[in-house]
Amino acid sequence: MKTHWPNQTENKAASTAQSQSNENDRAPLGYAAVEDLSRHTSFGIGGPAEFFFTPAGRSQLIETARRCREAGLPTYALGKGTNLLVSDEGVKGAVISTAGLQNIEANDGTITADCGVGLPRLIALAEERGLSGLEPLAGIPGSLGGAIKMNAGTASRCIADVIKEITLLTPDGGVFCIGTAEADFGYRCSGLDGAIVLSATFRLLPSDRRRVAQSVRAHWQRKAEKHPTTQASAGCIFKNPPGNSAGRILDHLGLKGAVEGGARISEKHANFIINCGRAKAADVKALIRRAREAVLSVRGIILELEIEVW
Ligand code: EPU
Repeated sequence: MKTHWPNQTENKAASTAQSQSNENDRAPLGYAAVEDLSRHTSFGIGGPAEFFFTPAGRSQLIETARRCREAGLPTYALGKGTNLLVSDEGVKGAVISTAGLQNIEANDGTITADCGVGLPRLIALAEERGLSGLEPLAGIPGSLGGAIKMNAGTASRCIADVIKEITLLTPDGGVFCIGTAEADFGYRCSGLDGAIVLSATFRLLPSDRRRVAQSVRAHWQRKAEKHPTTQASAGCIFKNPPGNSAGRILDHLGLKGAVEGGARISEKHANFIINCGRAKAADVKALIRRAREAVLSVRGIILELEIEVW
């Protein structure tokens, strides 16, 4: 996590963005005493959050985070939960869902959207306006905030490639507007850990609407052919080691179809673990351990997790 952000009072773009708060912000802070996180992850796995908040807009989210900070609660931002494994014990502290932050608008070759907006909705608007750049991300199910934190992408494009600026909330409550250089993006990572992405602006290229639509369909189709997109998973489990594919390595080691409890390594793509119905986080962790041990002992490669674990 970066520690030196620009001076907040000098950051005009951030304060402008902050003042455009959603009118829903006057609604009471959404609060549930205990919430089962399996309902909020694409894996369908996870114990309860001690405190669960669903702020209705940006200023409520900032206020919720402030209260949690003052109460000394560890705080986790939750987008669509598509790249996340939550332990069976759940989470001690506060989980703040970004689902209520849904503003999105297109302007002069850019799109600005809140962190809770799903990538499919962002891509649909780009397609509607004939704006090119996001097509290779078609089929990635996450929210914009989560996708930016982990620099989601494919082999040919990552989300950082099309970001103009990001507005974020730092752990000590500052709201800053930063460019991509300051976000320290890398392969499936950023320097934004600990901060909450509030919104982002994407710089896109004006193009032919039909051509953008065709490209989006082609990327969707390719993903559906290669990945088990209709089953409960968290996307690729491991990062690819340099110059290789974790899926190919696991496949060659015969790990497709390996089972632990209710979790199974996908027969379609070996870097996916599927919840076959009643998987526990412990089952997924056991499969992860098994896969890593096999790859280390046979190939001498340490596989790094791509998913986040709470
Ligand atoms: N392969 C196998 N067996 C498998 C899986 C893959 O032999 O079980 C082979 C494929 O045939 C191909 C090669 O491995 O020759 C690479 O496979 P693929 O094209 O599926 O790409 P990947 O390296 O496994 C990466 C990203 C995906 C992204 C695809 C497509 C990572 C960890 N994964 O996968 O991203 O969709 O490229 O661009 O970087 C994700 O981040 O969650 C994710 C799914």
